Amino acid sequence: MKQAVLELLKSTREYISGEEISHRMQVSRTAIWKHIQGLRVEGYEIDSQPRLGYRLLSTPDRLYPAEIYDGLATQAFGSSIVYFSSTGSTNDVAKQIAEQGAAEGTLVVAEEQTGGRGRLGRKWVSPQGTGIWMSLILRPQILPQDAPKITLVAALALVKAVRSLTGLQVSIKWPNDVVYQEQKIVGILTEMTGELDRVKYLVVGMGINVNTQQEDFPEELRPIATSIFLQTKQQQSRVALVQGVLKHFEDLYLTFLSGDFASILAEWKANCSTIGKDIRVTGLRQSLVGKALDVAHDGTLQLQLSDGTITSVVAGDIDSKLD
Ligand code: BTN
Repeated sequence: MKQAVLELLKSTREYISGEEISHRMQVSRTAIWKHIQGLRVEGYEIDSQPRLGYRLLSTPDRLYPAEIYDGLATQAFGSSIVYFSSTGSTNDVAKQIAEQGAAEGTLVVAEEQTGGRGRLGRKWVSPQGTGIWMSLILRPQILPQDAPKITLVAALALVKAVRSLTGLQVSIKWPNDVVYQEQKIVGILTEMTGELDRVKYLVVGMGINVNTQQEDFPEELRPIATSIFLQTKQQQSRVALVQGVLKHFEDLYLTFLSGDFASILAEWKANCSTIGKDIRVTGLRQSLVGKALDVAHDGTLQLQLSDGTITSVVAGDIDSKLD
């Protein structure tokens, strides 16, 4: 009912009397007043005038499901949204509800994560209301060895959404960071549950530093992390970005499921700033220096070492500012 009142206020954007709302909703004016109060508590600015009624003045900068649904152009991605003002890790919540049968496209989103997780067991700093911390549940019928391709699909979707909505010319840093001039703006953590020959579900966790200020980052991250706000000097709509990411991601995911990974990889490479650079790749076991030649169809980085040999690198961290 509260959502219906909100939708009515949004659809008119003019004053609408309590009487009219109660008539349309078939509930008492006291009930309407309570819903208006509830919306105000959520941060909706609603003016009320004695003879005119109520008018919506502004919507809060929150990732409320109702705001994300409003104008979302996808079929399945984000069709069900689980929202938290604060949670440990959206990936953990997504895994729990996926175990309970949550459908493909279910999105878990939080304003803040108190235990945000990054790749390789790292922490992911996720301060309140500044970024987008979200996890999408996918149930593709693919082999486990093809699951990393989904992360490539996600990275490309994120690049396309950030570029088109904010104008910031971000690029992909292998394997799946989205960066602006080498500083990280987006991180992706894909986690898989399945058997040897079957993916049960994937959770694609995406962290986007949107309106993050310099002081929100701990000192040690400041040289390597940045936000869309810090680079564009403009506050960005997080809701619009969530919608854009979901739309680009779903379109590319459908292309992927149709069997056309080649076109996605080609576009991914065209947006990858690692290829062609002299880099150091630090993996779990060793550190290699060479020229990044290409990314193969399985997502591995083709690295040419100083003796001319070419080696495939499966995972690692890249440093392109070599001494
Ligand atoms: C990385 O670059 O190390 C990956 C970072 C992934 C962060 C996101 S934020 C939403 C989701 N929940 C988490 O705990 N992690 C991912």
